Parts: sequence; C-alpha cells; structure tokens
Amino acid sequence: MKQGDLLHSGKAKSVYRTDDPGVYIMKFRDDITAFDGEKKDTLCGKGVYNAEVSSFFFRYLEEHGIRTHYLESTEPGTMAVRALEMIPLEVIVRNIAAGSLVRKYPFREGEPLDPPVIIIDYKSDALHDPMLNDDLVFALHLATPEELDLIKATALAINEILREYLDARGITLVDFKLEFGRDNGDIVVGDEISMDSMRLWEKETGASLDKDVYRFSKGDVMETYAAAARRILSPSGGETA
Ligand code: C5P
Repeated sequence: MKQGDLLHSGKAKSVYRTDDPGVYIMKFRDDITAFDGEKKDTLCGKGVYNAEVSSFFFRYLEEHGIRTHYLESTEPGTMAVRALEMIPLEVIVRNIAAGSLVRKYPFREGEPLDPPVIIIDYKSDALHDPMLNDDLVFALHLATPEELDLIKATALAINEILREYLDARGITLVDFKLEFGRDNGDIVVGDEISMDSMRLWEKETGASLDKDVYRFSKGDVMETYAAAARRILSPSGGETA
C-alpha cells in the first residue's frame, strides 16, 4: 500500500490517501494540544505510544464484536484504516465525574456516575465543540434516530469492554471520547482511543495516566504515556507499570 496525498490534518493526527480508495493511512504526530488548542507542544515519541495503544484497543474491540476502522499497523506511529464517512460528533462516555463535567455542573470530582453518562458534542473547532442533544443531532441532520441509538449503544458496550480490561490492569476508566463514521451505511468506530482521548486513573494512587498530566502540568508527560502504554499493552492483568 502506497501513502498518497494528505487528506486531512488535525491537531495531533494526519490522514493520507493510499492507492486503494477504501483505505487511508492515519499518522499519529508528536503534537499535543489542550484547552481548545491554546496550549501546544511537540513531544518526541508521543505519536508512537498513542498509535500502539489505539491499534491495540481497536483490535481488542474487533475481537469483542465491535466494528472499527482499524485494518493494520503499518510502521510505528501509523495505522491503516478503512475510509469512513465521518460523523462530526464527539461521543464522550463518563464513569466518574471529572474535567469539564465538574467545571460546568455541580458534580464533585471523583463522584461515580452510575449509570454512565453520555455527552455528545458537535465536532467543530470554529464553534468550540458545543454540546448537542438528540433533537439538535436530528435538526442538524448529523445522524438518524436509528444511527444515534446505535452510536449510544455501541459507546456503552465499548465502555464495558474497556472498563473491565483496564480494571484488570490497575487502571480506572474515568471517561473517554469516541468518534464514529459510516461504511456503506454501517456505523463504525473511527479516530483513536488513546491517552489523548481517555481519562485514566491509577487505581492504587489516583494518579493520572493520560493527557491531564499535560493539561495541568502534573509531571513528565512522556514518562506517563510510556507507563500507561506499558500497562495497557501488558498481556496479563495485575502487572504494575
Ligand atoms: O474535557 P472533558 O472533561 O470534557 O473531556 C472528557 C473526555 O473526552 C476526556 O477523556 C478527554 O480527553 C476526551 N476529549 C477528547 N477530545 C475532545 C474533548 C474531550 O478526546 N475534543
């Protein structure tokens, strides 16, 4: 498969066409941003960790019956993905109150959310990703009621699968963001599932193992990403970083 023209460049990833119109190459760059792009840096090696973790989670979800865009890992920091018609929604599943939920609503940080809370934002840098509700999704023709039902059910199923997997490795899945696309009418998980898009707390210490370390300058970001990747990719549960 040959890498072709750049199709899209986001804040931390670039997507390239290939000689197969149904396949794209997703490159995880070393760029990291926070607070709507206000804080920006480049951290050498970050892209490789996020690509490894994303590729692993996509393969794991496929093994558990969830359709994703993942095809294969090509070289470090990249993955070959199915070309999807992306739906501009950011679907966030929250098990524990943290981040913007605590800033915007009267939750205490660390408060369990049972059942989990799904929040759906409109993916638009220009509009700063405003929160949607079902009526707005339909009024904006972003998804049909059937598609939205499937998106929510899939997000909750993924939450259960990842929560159990991470729990066995000493990690609490606090929240995470998913994006979805269409492949011949089917709803498929796209984008990434990595330390940039999840909030992960070490069970024993409560320490962050994710982008919060960068957002709030809580420590060495690359050491944190390396430790998170090592734990997530460890074959058996119970191993420490
Ligand atoms: O900032 P907030 O608390 O709303 O983020 C919730 C979760 O969604 C976090 O895990 C965060 O990393 C992820 N997220 C993301 N991309 C965004 C917004 C949030 O990956 N644009």
